[in-house]
Amino acid sequence: MINQKIVTIERFLLDTQPELARGELTSLLYEMALAAKIIAAQTRRAGLIDILGFADNVNVQGEEQRKLDVYADEVIFRVNCHTGRLCAMVSEEQEDMISIPPEYPKGSYILVFDPLDGSSNIDTNISIGTIFGIYRTLDEKHPGRLEDCLQPGRNLVAAGYILFGPSTMLVYSAGLGVHGFTLDPGWGEFILTHENIRIPEQPTYFSFNHAAAKHFTQGMNEYIEWLRNHCDPVLTQRYVGSMVADFHRNLLHGGVFGYPAEPSKPDGKIRLLYEAAPLAFIAEQAGGYGSDGTQSLLNIKPAEIHQRVPVFIGNRFLVEKAEYFISNYQKQN
Ligand code: AHG
Ligand code: MN
Ligand code: MN
Repeated sequence: MINQKIVTIERFLLDTQPELARGELTSLLYEMALAAKIIAAQTRRAGLIDILGFADNVNVQGEEQRKLDVYADEVIFRVNCHTGRLCAMVSEEQEDMISIPPEYPKGSYILVFDPLDGSSNIDTNISIGTIFGIYRTLDEKHPGRLEDCLQPGRNLVAAGYILFGPSTMLVYSAGLGVHGFTLDPGWGEFILTHENIRIPEQPTYFSFNHAAAKHFTQGMNEYIEWLRNHCDPVLTQRYVGSMVADFHRNLLHGGVFGYPAEPSKPDGKIRLLYEAAPLAFIAEQAGGYGSDGTQSLLNIKPAEIHQRVPVFIGNRFLVEKAEYFISNYQKQN
């Protein structure tokens, strides 16, 4: 028996966020829900059709692109390029800002996205995701310039992620809380399953790649030691290697995800514009916090679209503890 109301993402926006529902932003969220369904359909088939393995390409980050990265990148572009909502896009998989093709109208919004996050997990059938952020143009008369894309996360009007796990989920915030929807594959609809997500006050997890600990600063290793042995409540460790999956688990159960700087990666690995800032926006909307170890990730204005940044994100007190250990270490050195 069905004993709860069934609310689609469209219905939810109409009913609870009417000021957004009339606008173009709503359409943009619908487009991302559509892209999510198309990518999810392909991800589900990934083990069955010849899509696994590498596309014959290396992306701008010097990483080998997997075929699903390329597919997801194309889907998000093709779903959004013609709608008249956007004036520019930025993708992890494209070196330069993406302009709207001249045959289509331009809108006021900028879409930044990581088409497939955690792509090294694809060929082992482990959760992957998509991350996106939406900004408004800085100048309605000249929309779609590079400056429009280089805005700090504070200016985000909406952000979200799609998690391709055992179920496909879309989680977004447009500044009025964080809401999660689960795709019913039979109906082809995203149904409201997680209304107004708040990060629990009592965290459960910490998520770092400990293989890199030998490269971390002493301050960082002291922080990890604190997480391991001194944090109250006692935490346990989980690390998927798909930031979307690690972030989502920690959002629902409390915890901290970290990707610190290392000597060979002085700015860490995570990209500010389309990975760190959207997730920091969602974390703050859920009562958490995202930092580069010295300041809010949302305060950093990117100097270039693929800029990397150290990331600590999750429960505020856990992230502030990282800032404390980092600042102590810096004072001593
Ligand atoms: P992407 O697949 O978009 O390049 O991102 C991968 C990122 C992130 O999802 C994950 O947390 C991190 O890389 C894992 O890196 P390590 O394997 O170095 O831990
Ligand atoms: Mn990524
Ligand atoms: Mn990616």
